[in-house]
Amino acid sequence: MARSRLNSGNSQAEELPKAKINKQSIQKVVRLLSYLKPYRSKFLIGLLFLVLSSASSFLFPLLMGRLIGTGSFPSQGRQIPNGILDIFPTDLNTVAITLLCVLFIQAIFSYFRINLFVEVAEKGLADIRRDTYFKLITLPMNFFSQRRVGELNSRLSADLSQIQDAITTTLAEMIRQVIIFTGGIIFLVLVSGKLTLMLLAVLPILVIIAVFFGRFIRKLSRQAQDKLAESNTIVEETLQGISNVKAFVNETFEVGRYNKSIREVVKIAMRGAKFRGIFASFIVFCLFGTIVSVVWYGAHLVQAGEISLASMFTFILLSTFVGAAMGSFPELYATMQKAFGASERVLEILAEVSEPISNIEKDNVIRKKIQGALEFQDIEFSYPSRKEIIVLNGVSFKALAGEKVAIVGPSGAGKSTIAGLILRFYDAQAGKLLFDGIASDEFSLTDIRNQVAIVPQDVLLFGGSIYENIAYGKLTASREEVIAAAKRANAHDFVSGFPEGYETVVGERGVKLSGGQRQRVAIARALLKDPAILILDEATSSLDSESERLVQEALEELMKNRTSIIIAHRLSTIREADKIVVLEKGIVIETGTHDELLQIDQGLYRYLSGLQFEV
Ligand SMILES: Nc1ncnc2c1ncn2[C@@H]1O[C@H](COP(=O)(O)OP(=O)(O)O)[C@@H](O)[C@H]1O
Ligand SMILES: [Mg+2]
Repeated sequence: MARSRLNSGNSQAEELPKAKINKQSIQKVVRLLSYLKPYRSKFLIGLLFLVLSSASSFLFPLLMGRLIGTGSFPSQGRQIPNGILDIFPTDLNTVAITLLCVLFIQAIFSYFRINLFVEVAEKGLADIRRDTYFKLITLPMNFFSQRRVGELNSRLSADLSQIQDAITTTLAEMIRQVIIFTGGIIFLVLVSGKLTLMLLAVLPILVIIAVFFGRFIRKLSRQAQDKLAESNTIVEETLQGISNVKAFVNETFEVGRYNKSIREVVKIAMRGAKFRGIFASFIVFCLFGTIVSVVWYGAHLVQAGEISLASMFTFILLSTFVGAAMGSFPELYATMQKAFGASERVLEILAEVSEPISNIEKDNVIRKKIQGALEFQDIEFSYPSRKEIIVLNGVSFKALAGEKVAIVGPSGAGKSTIAGLILRFYDAQAGKLLFDGIASDEFSLTDIRNQVAIVPQDVLLFGGSIYENIAYGKLTASREEVIAAAKRANAHDFVSGFPEGYETVVGERGVKLSGGQRQRVAIARALLKDPAILILDEATSSLDSESERLVQEALEELMKNRTSIIIAHRLSTIREADKIVVLEKGIVIETGTHDELLQIDQGLYRYLSGLQFEV
């Protein structure tokens, strides 16, 4: 499980763009790291363990050399210098036991280091996740209309996972490799300066070539994968539209198309194979060539009595450490760059300005009551994402407290936009929105939204029980209140019909409710909220006539004793309205009661009702 998360994290990370690492970006990232502050003592202890375990890893090649040196036959009377190795005991058993102890202590260090780092990263990241999510859902609607949900979602998952990996693994690995690299070089010099010079003359070149070659080959194999994915879309498309392929007798054509695409894959793969072959032979030749030349030179030094055999052995072990550290830097650096990019994107969200939502606590206390009168005065509005299109052009209408006002008009006229403005999802560029004759900006956003409820055409239920979905309208409601609301909304009967009743789980993984049932759950939710102003945005448009009757009844119940703005497509539902506002292309063209509007010659309402009622 943990493994698969890691893997998927890595494959996502593969696609994440990198960022430059410079002073500015480091400053930014440090700001994000302030999330780790509460856990800094653990982090520092982890860091200490990391340094200790990295440093102690040098004891392994040194003691191994000592072990071998002690075990080999003493050379004939000559005293060959062991260099640094002479600081260790000479007794065979003592060396072996020391070595085992070192390994054991190192194991313990690593265990605690990993535990501490993971704990710090998990806890710190959970805090960042929570804050980013909170930030996201408190951002104004405008933010969401300019971004795709998938992109925002990936910031919460891929970007933050990338940061998490960087803290738990990459950072530690980087520190460890730096210690091993610098310490390794120092010890190499201490063991034999001459051999080190010889090694440093060839090793960096080898590592650089290997890294670049490796990258090039990876690019080629990615190209081959992409091509393969392309040819797979041919298979997918044709299988999905198989009846089309057959009906047009295009089987041979499709096979030809697929074959051509597959051949391309082979071509790229062959090119990759050639380079891979060269790479493998290069590595085998050069790597072993280096070893041979170092050993050859070392053997000369041993013969000349400049170093001992044990020192040479230690030297070779140490040089594999240094070489591996060198080779790991480019990859670590690239991962760091991706983590920096991810941090910058997350910080971007955190820097956005939230909506002024005042009371976020559970109780949602209303500070300034709205009686229910609502007025649009010359409202002009265009969406911030599409400023050039004027959606509402001088819209004025008035609803007294407790009145039913209907808004009708063709689709795209701006009806739902009016609903959005009442909820203050957006603010109008010109004109005034008044509640009880008072400008809407005198009310807090929270007060307005707590006293306005909307029942949309497509009700989205959250994954959870029906009970929870109704109680969403008032989180503090008692069980009795929830059931009473369900009864008034004509929902109690169908809910009781489920074996698990109110605990029935709905949403993506639960029971699928019909459109009418979902609508009644939404009505119960709105009843529980008991708003002063109710907006029905085509609430019954997509229902069949049987469920429409039940929903309509529930809506009548819901509309009692409050101001209702009824947005409707079907005019049959609004005949009883106190006032009907006819909207076309963002302009109010007619206002009046049903009977008044029917009197207007050439009127849009008369035309529309003619269309709907005569059939
Ligand atoms: N979030 C949005 N961003 C930009 N334009 C929008 C947005 N929502 C709606 N519009 C545009 O505003 C106009 C009115 O839309 P809407 O109020 O949904 O119409 P109606 O509800 O009357 O069918 C349409 O032209 C639509 O394309
Ligand atoms: Mg609409």
